[in-house]
Amino acid sequence: MAVGLMDIQGQYAELQERIESAVLEVLRSGRVILGPNVKAFEEESAAYLGTAGAVGVANGTDGLTIALRAMGIGPGDEVITVPFTFYATAEAIAQSGATAVFVDVLPDTLCIDPAAIAGAVTKRTKAVMPVDLFGLPAEMDAVNEVAAAHGLRVVEDACQAWGATYHGRRAGSLGETAVFSFFPTKNLGGFGDGGLVTSHDKSLVEAARQLRFHGSKDKVVFTDFGFNSRLDEVQAAILRIELGVIDEWNARRQQVAAWYDAHLPREVLRPAVPEGLTHVYHLYVIRHGRREAISAACKERGVACAAYYTTPLHLQPVFADHGHAPCDFPVTCAAAAQNLALPMHPNLTEEQVREVAEAVAAGLG
Ligand SMILES: Cc1ncc(COP(=O)(O)O)c(C=O)c1O
Repeated sequence: MAVGLMDIQGQYAELQERIESAVLEVLRSGRVILGPNVKAFEEESAAYLGTAGAVGVANGTDGLTIALRAMGIGPGDEVITVPFTFYATAEAIAQSGATAVFVDVLPDTLCIDPAAIAGAVTKRTKAVMPVDLFGLPAEMDAVNEVAAAHGLRVVEDACQAWGATYHGRRAGSLGETAVFSFFPTKNLGGFGDGGLVTSHDKSLVEAARQLRFHGSKDKVVFTDFGFNSRLDEVQAAILRIELGVIDEWNARRQQVAAWYDAHLPREVLRPAVPEGLTHVYHLYVIRHGRREAISAACKERGVACAAYYTTPLHLQPVFADHGHAPCDFPVTCAAAAQNLALPMHPNLTEEQVREVAEAVAAGLG
């Protein structure tokens, strides 16, 4: 039987009645922009994450740009981030007017290598943007420590990691500010685009709130060039319902991961989960030098799989002026060549996981 990479319809079916009635209520209310659901979702999110506040925005990419702009980062500034992430991480830095500067990731977690940050700091460096990759928080204590030593601001790209924890604290509360994406394939996903900016600093929350509405405090007087970037009421109404089940969905993903860990062939590198952290497996990504053979065997058996970030950001044409050579970042280089995401969603059964594991084993001959 075919096994899909994700299961958006299955997750919808689980909440169908509640989602449909909430959406209908929004449509009938006529309040579709910045209404009660966005406000409630922001409050519920901030309470869940343990932050001073949260601001619903149109998508994660805008959220990252708005977070940087809220900190006053712009043209002439540099922001350190990783090349092994979705393009939007670095694109958002460029959209703020700043320049992305890349450093490599750690070999076990594939998140930013905190020890590499100091070497990339220049007089222009203003911030660091670590990514909680595939659902695992970056090594944030070390990141915050280096940032403090160099006077850098910290924006946590938590787009893939709703609900993950780092020594008891939530992803999205681990930097000065953080950003989530509610793109439908995310572990907390809407049925359209959506995003959230969070911060421990009330003044940054307020700055992000203004930036999402054209940079205006009162919607009458305009003092800045901002964005038209709001989470809409329909998405917020759906996300509020999902917020009530996300911990259970994440626990089910963790069970699926445990089955994979148990059933995959020994020589396949599994996702690392450092002590004290929890992973929410937005994606379950393995690594092996014979990725193409594994991928071919999976496809032959109807098992969906996908390689991520196969052209890392430092090699994308848009960053050609950075002048990077292919393996300037050796860990990224190897990860780009070896990674493969296997099916991952809360509704997978152990039998399906065994089927996937058998396909992987068949690929390895
Ligand atoms: C790590 C990362 N950063 C940023 C984004 C951008 O989010 P969005 O697609 O909501 O703009 C995404 C997801 O797409 C992502 O995975």
